[in-house]
Amino acid sequence: MPTNPVLVVHGGAWAIPDEMVEAHLNGVRNATAAGWRLLERGGSALDAVEEAVVVMEDDETFDAGRGSFLNRDGKVQLDAFIMDGATLRGGGVGCVERLRNPVRAARKILSDSTHVYFVAEGAERFAEEHGIALCRNEDLIIPREIERLREYQSHMEEHRADLFAPTISHDTVGAVALDRDGKIAASTSTGGTLNKDPGRLGDSSLIGCGCYADNASAAASTTGWGEPIMKLVLAKWAADRVGSGSLPEWVAKEAMNYLKQRVNGHGGIILLDAEGRFGIAHNTPRMAWSFQTVHRKDAGIEK
Ligand code: GLY
Repeated sequence: MPTNPVLVVHGGAWAIPDEMVEAHLNGVRNATAAGWRLLERGGSALDAVEEAVVVMEDDETFDAGRGSFLNRDGKVQLDAFIMDGATLRGGGVGCVERLRNPVRAARKILSDSTHVYFVAEGAERFAEEHGIALCRNEDLIIPREIERLREYQSHMEEHRADLFAPTISHDTVGAVALDRDGKIAASTSTGGTLNKDPGRLGDSSLIGCGCYADNASAAASTTGWGEPIMKLVLAKWAADRVGSGSLPEWVAKEAMNYLKQRVNGHGGIILLDAEGRFGIAHNTPRMAWSFQTVHRKDAGIEK
């Protein structure tokens, strides 16, 4: 008997200000609608998470694709990962500067390569050789982010302590899905952190840190301050706990407590198992999230 599909997405965890709430909610709702259109007609979980993430990469609200934070040199550098829980195949790109939708390149790696990762120019070359058009880095930069970097760099000393506070923007995006064949998948995409050093890689594209999927346990995508998340290999940590029998809803909360208590980190997580049970949690003031099942759909900014 076919499984009832489920899709859960997030659009960043931080103190999303009131005036930005609507844009975040629209963004995660649009992403969910795009992924759900595929799932409801029998499409794969892998296709659904890819499409949901593409929608958020294309939405300048989020720190993914066009509109991402700028690094110290004023450039966009993007990381993304996608993983198939049925086969454990994964594809990731890091520090790419000329891809509008890094998740598309990550998906090509998953499907067409024996490798799991490509970074920087090698990743762009792989993408181009597999039919993905490259853009200019300038095409990914928007005035809001030029101003944000200028403001940050001109008040560097005052801001330094705040940069990784839970109130500061962390708009990494992600999705987890379960399809009618009972397969789960996850994807995460980010522009990383404001004023990051060129070449810095965050948690999002690192397997088991910002993203993981295994049908034997769970699919997970995280958002937030990357360095603490990667120290805990948090997505895999959470998936393993689900695999040991704990409920995703409970594990998601536990993961956020662990992140805070063990390494003083902050962020959010979405977690889904192959039976369609899911959890959404964050230890930041807000997180944009949305989900759809055959019975219900909802979106919110607090959980
Ligand atoms: N979580 C996104 C990053 O730190 O790069």
